Parts: sequence; C-alpha cells; structure tokens
Amino acid sequence: MPANKNLLVLPGDGIGPEVMREVRRVIDWMDRRRMVTFDLTEDYVGGASIDHRGTPITDETMQKAKDADAILFGSVGGPKWETLGFDMRPELAILRLRKELDLFANLRPAIVLDPLVDASTLKPDVIRGLDIMIVRESTGGIYFGEPRGVETLPNGEKRGFDTETYSTSEIERVARVAFELARKRQNRVCSVEKANVMQSGLFWRQVVTDLQKRDYPDVELSHMYADNCAMQLVRNPRQFDVIVTGNLFGDLLSDLASMLTGSLGMLPSATLGAVQPSGKRHALYEPIHGSAPDIAGKGIANPLAQMLSFAMLLRFSFGMDEDAALIERACTNVLKSGLRTGDIMGPGTARVGTSVMGESILRELDKLAA
Ligand code: IPM
Ligand code: MG
Repeated sequence: MPANKNLLVLPGDGIGPEVMREVRRVIDWMDRRRMVTFDLTEDYVGGASIDHRGTPITDETMQKAKDADAILFGSVGGPKWETLGFDMRPELAILRLRKELDLFANLRPAIVLDPLVDASTLKPDVIRGLDIMIVRESTGGIYFGEPRGVETLPNGEKRGFDTETYSTSEIERVARVAFELARKRQNRVCSVEKANVMQSGLFWRQVVTDLQKRDYPDVELSHMYADNCAMQLVRNPRQFDVIVTGNLFGDLLSDLASMLTGSLGMLPSATLGAVQPSGKRHALYEPIHGSAPDIAGKGIANPLAQMLSFAMLLRFSFGMDEDAALIERACTNVLKSGLRTGDIMGPGTARVGTSVMGESILRELDKLAA
C-alpha cells in the first residue's frame, strides 16, 4: 500500500459542500479497498470562512494549503456575502491561494463525452468528440496588476482603473506548460491575446513566438485575437487542441468552452505551480462551476465536475493514472446508463439528485473493481 498522501479539502459555499460529500464517499471507498489512504484535512473557505472566522481564508488555512500535497477545492461566493465590501469577497480566498502558492497554470479541459452529445445547446455534429484544453495564466494579468483603484480627477470626477501586465518569464512559463501538454495531444497550440489593441498583447505574441522557435519547433503554433477565438469556439470548436491565454481572456473563454459540453456541471480543472527543487509542486483542483447559490441545498447539483476534479488530482499530483481512469470510467458508465442531474437532462434520460448520482458512481466502481 502506498504511503499516505496529505490532502486538503475545501468545500466552500453553495453547492460546494453537497458535491464534495459525494467525492468524500469515493475517497472512503478507495480507503476501504486499501487502494490509497489520504491524510485528509477539511477546512472552511470563502463565505463559510467569513461566517466562522471573519475572513475569506485564514493564515492557518493558507499554511495547511502550503503543506498539503494537493488541494481539492469546491466553490466560493453567494449573495449572502455580496454586501460585505471588496476586501471581504469570498472570491479572495481562491485568488490568494493562486497567488501565494504561485499556481500559475490553470488547466481547463472541455471534453464532450459521447453520452452527453445531446446535452449541449450546439448541434451534435459540431461538438461530437470535442477535446480541447485551455491553459489559462492564473497569477498575473489584470487580476493582480498594479496600479489599480479608484481615483478622483482634478475636475472632481472619479475614475476606476486596473492594469494588464505580463513579463517575459510569466508568459514563458505558462506557454511551456501549453507546449508540453500539446506534445502529448495533437501537438497544436493556439495563443490568444489582443495584439491588435493591447501593447501587452503584442508582447505576449512575441514572447510565445520566440519561445516556440527556440524550444518547441516541433509543436505547431498559431495566434488568434481573443474576440475571434470566442467566435471560433462556437463556430467550429474542434479546430482547437491546446489554447494558451492570459488570466482574463482565459476566464471568459473557459466559461464559453465549458458550455460547448452541455453543462458547467461536468468540467474539472487543475491549477499547477512550478516544480520546486524538492520535486514537490503545489496543485489545486476545482470544478469550473461556481457555488450556484440558486440551487444550493436542494440536493440537485451535479457532482460530476467535482468528481472529475478529484480524478485529475489523482493523475497530476499522485501519478495514480489507473485510479483516475477508473473514476472517469465510472462517471461515463453512469451517464451511459441514462441517469442525469437536471443540468444535463436529454431525451430518454432519468432525472436523479446529487446523492443518487454519487451512489450510482460507487456502485459502478464496485462493478469495475470486482
Ligand atoms: C474562475 C472564477 C474566478 C476567477 C472568481 C471566483 C474569482 O470565475 O475560477 O474562473 O475569475 O478566476
Ligand atoms: Mg471564471
């Protein structure tokens, strides 16, 4: 039996705790089967942390995150905390985790599973077999750039501002992640910015171009303006293999891409830091969907994105490829059997809630592991 692995679980707000509960059942299942034992710590984050501790994430929780081998994150935010002010936003928790752990490469796959080809609002012919990977830079750009603020102009009028900034090393390190991933896929990278409008965009394009010439001449590189990319993702999404882009465009384009697959409720993500001299690499795994306050507490949320985030964690942080594939297969088989949460209903399928979906995955795991 492999050595214990230190896992920090942060369910957060809204549907976060509900969908995380189903993942915990899978973790217990793995434990019972003696496949792996996690040293598991669970903690508050986001609005839940504001309620219990008066801040979106405490220094103690940050320390646990730094000590963990991997972090499984749910989702944060909701109307309850919207009036507390800019410095008390639940979202600050995920931003602080990304920044302080230097989690710069946000990997957001958009994959259409065959049983769900009818769940998308796009025609099956356009999206069947879709498999793209968006690599979003996640510790820089306008999310963190200085200066930022609201100032009063000499005429008394006010002016709000944020700054988009990217340095050579910030661009190179995330582009490297994209090139390396492409080599294991279809070997194509599309780099996305607004080089026609933004200085930082033109600079991004130059840095990625130089890096490709220098270190990745075997990988096919193309460039696209972000607005065109949004349009192309809807028109013909299968033209893409790996997309690499900055923080803000990546935020927008990954939401768009996720909907090609039918539901935000299906897609996991990984956010990876640099490999440290010790060989350790900080990593956080979270579903792309948010806390969905409108359906929270009703037992109807789709737990699959959280489940698939856990599978990604097994694969990327612990090299447990077979176990990850087992969970992914269990999820696909449950979908094939026709069970669906409300967000992915299609013709001839049966509606189930969060916990029945979780139970069905466990039953499927029993079958697959028998
Ligand atoms: C995401 C979310 C976050 C972001 C929010 C919650 C700060 O939208 O992970 O895409 O904008 O990065
Ligand atoms: Mg987003």
